Amino acid sequence: MQMQGGGAAPAAVSVNGKDSFGNPARAAPSRSLPLKLLKPFLLIAVLATGVLAAGLLLPGASSYGLPRLTVPDVLAASRQTPCAEKGDGALERWTRPPASAWHNMTDEELLWVASMQPRVRRYPYRRLPKVAFMFLTRGPLPLAPLWERFFNGSGPVLFSVYVHSTPGYRPDFPPTSVFYRRQVPSQVARWGETNMFDAERRLLANALLDSGNERFVLVSETCVPLHGFPAVYRYLTQSRHSFVGSFYDPGPHGRGRYRAGLAPEVSPEQWRKGAQWFELERSLAVFVVGDDRYYPKFRELCRPPCYVDEHYLPTVLSIEAAGRIANRSVTWVDWSRGGAHPATFGEADVGEAFLTKVAAQQTCLYNGQPSEVCFLFARKFAPSALQPLLALAPTLLGY
Ligand SMILES: *[C@@H]1O[C@H](CO)[C@@H](O)[C@H](O)[C@H]1NC(C)=O
Ligand SMILES: *[C@@H]1O[C@H](CO)[C@@H](O)[C@H](O)[C@H]1NC(C)=O
Ligand SMILES: *[C@@H]1O[C@H](CO)[C@@H](O)[C@H](O)[C@H]1NC(C)=O
Repeated sequence: MQMQGGGAAPAAVSVNGKDSFGNPARAAPSRSLPLKLLKPFLLIAVLATGVLAAGLLLPGASSYGLPRLTVPDVLAASRQTPCAEKGDGALERWTRPPASAWHNMTDEELLWVASMQPRVRRYPYRRLPKVAFMFLTRGPLPLAPLWERFFNGSGPVLFSVYVHSTPGYRPDFPPTSVFYRRQVPSQVARWGETNMFDAERRLLANALLDSGNERFVLVSETCVPLHGFPAVYRYLTQSRHSFVGSFYDPGPHGRGRYRAGLAPEVSPEQWRKGAQWFELERSLAVFVVGDDRYYPKFRELCRPPCYVDEHYLPTVLSIEAAGRIANRSVTWVDWSRGGAHPATFGEADVGEAFLTKVAAQQTCLYNGQPSEVCFLFARKFAPSALQPLLALAPTLLGY
């Protein structure tokens, strides 16, 4: 039996022959291989030199190994109580999040409630936007201690946690845990099947019930944060774009999966592909849970070897909100080993050099400016990676 990480995606994936993706370079085979191999190394060398120089030049700078993110004083803000939570009346009904993520609503009821959106854009109270971390899991969260530390001290005012797992799975987190009572009513979700994206919508809908949530990030039990919470919070809440990978792939694993029945809503030229691990701002999340134009067609027509979780968001958001998505994911994953599954990293893989390499993989645009911080999360990590990660996180990852 494989470890959690190794098995997470795989079971259904291999059966369905879900291929590797997520690397737009695959869509452009014209690039010569040696250059492709060389580029990351040059980039790492350049970035490493820069980081080193910055460390030497800035006296008092902490020895935080990865490309630096500016850390705002978000924690100070979280220590103040937002007005709406002071408990003076009826507004609370709309602004106070439920204590538990559990409820008795059916999916139909849930999606309806979650699709509501105020037309008045200005909030009549001081609202601190929260980041909702949505864990799509099968059961246990072996890397939970790392996440506990990541969230520690940031205060529940700035984030919220939702966990979708196999129905019947009963987690056992103590009341002090960020995962305590954060399980949402769940249904079977299998990799490669349509019910996978149903689960992602269900997570989004549950997270939308808290009107304080502004950014919604999907993670799995094999994901780890690459930066401290304040940096991640700022990166997401200050971004003008949602982080959804989207590229045009003319090959059989891209355009080849287009289904004629999707027209006229989606034309073959509009067909896009991207990694499953998305990050959405609130209005796009509302759009997704409320979509009754594209989603029913995708559910019906996009069957293996077409995968809803690889094509629905990249395609539909490129049509409906092209300027609002960054066309890249903030979750790093390694497809370089080829095959149907991304690489899983265990105890033997995780060291300082590895984490530095992961964080400095590429440059990208952030709010229209070149940035060397492109990834906030990485996957996939096996449970055995927990101890080395816990050991390296304070100096290398900033938490
Ligand atoms: C769900 O319904 C059951 C039975 O009607 C009830 O006991 C339980 O308290 C309800 N749970 C919530 C979260 O409302
Ligand atoms: C959270 O931080 C407090 C104070 O810094 C510390 O005592 C506690 O052990 C930390 N908890 C975790 C899970 O890291
Ligand atoms: C993402 O790609 C679309 C084309 O599909 C483009 O219109 C949009 O500007 C791109 N977004 C960014 C942030 O570059």
